[in-house]
Amino acid sequence: MIERFKKEYVQDIINICYRTGFYGEDLTKQKVFKDKKLFAMRFVLHYTRFQPEFCFVYKENGKVAGYVVGTDNTKEQEADFTKSMYPRIIMRMYLFTWWYSYTSFRHIKSFLRPESESVLDNSSIEKYPAHLHMNVLPGFQSRGIGQQLLDAFVSTMRDNDVAGIHLGTSSENKKAVPFYEKNKFVLLKQLDSDMWGTGTRLKSLIYGLRLK
Ligand SMILES: CC(C)(COP(=O)(O)OP(=O)(O)OC[C@H]1O[C@@H](n2cnc3c(N)ncnc32)[C@H](O)[C@@H]1OP(=O)(O)O)[C@@H](O)C(=O)NCCC(=O)NCCS
Repeated sequence: MIERFKKEYVQDIINICYRTGFYGEDLTKQKVFKDKKLFAMRFVLHYTRFQPEFCFVYKENGKVAGYVVGTDNTKEQEADFTKSMYPRIIMRMYLFTWWYSYTSFRHIKSFLRPESESVLDNSSIEKYPAHLHMNVLPGFQSRGIGQQLLDAFVSTMRDNDVAGIHLGTSSENKKAVPFYEKNKFVLLKQLDSDMWGTGTRLKSLIYGLRLK
């Protein structure tokens, strides 16, 4: 069942974010990033804290199995991320992460910049001002949960009269690409990317969906 975000779901969201964080696969198995909370601070916790009205979870038998978070206005959200979340991330990096997990400390630097900055130009951002992040727990995927979460987000954006939504994924993500394409997202841009420094030749893919 889809529910609006509540504070009590934060820990579940941190876990799901981590368990789907390596190109859609479980980060637990990789030895590249141990600080779960820092990872979530970068990708989800700004939205749950500052724009909870655009955050939804899917719950089954009392367990949170997936979430969608996002914003209706990427430019404002990025400016606010820099002002409100960036200092928290830096503080955690230097007070905790560097001794707890030096690999996490090294990696976070490569994805601290908001992804749409210098990725979408001004005219594209006007057409697709919203963006989202969504993840479904392994074991619950391919059962229609992602579809319900996406529908909840899209319908909220429509209610808010938003022109379009964009999102970033990776050519390596074999679940997300067909999912978004089925949902009529179109490829806006692709860039070379090696987010995890694995040396693999990957593309970072930016998809968009017009709502009007
Ligand atoms: C991508 C993701 C959000 C999709 O959610 P989901 O619950 O697995 O997807 P659904 O079951 O709702 O699928 C809806 C449609 O998407 C397509 N789809 C979903 N998973 C697919 C897969 N692995 N391969 C091919 N098509 C797929 C199907 O067309 C499906 O429609 P159908 O059931 O009528 O065939 C989810 O798999 C996930 O969280 N993956 C790991 C993390 C991730 O990649 N997040 C996105 C980062 S950008």
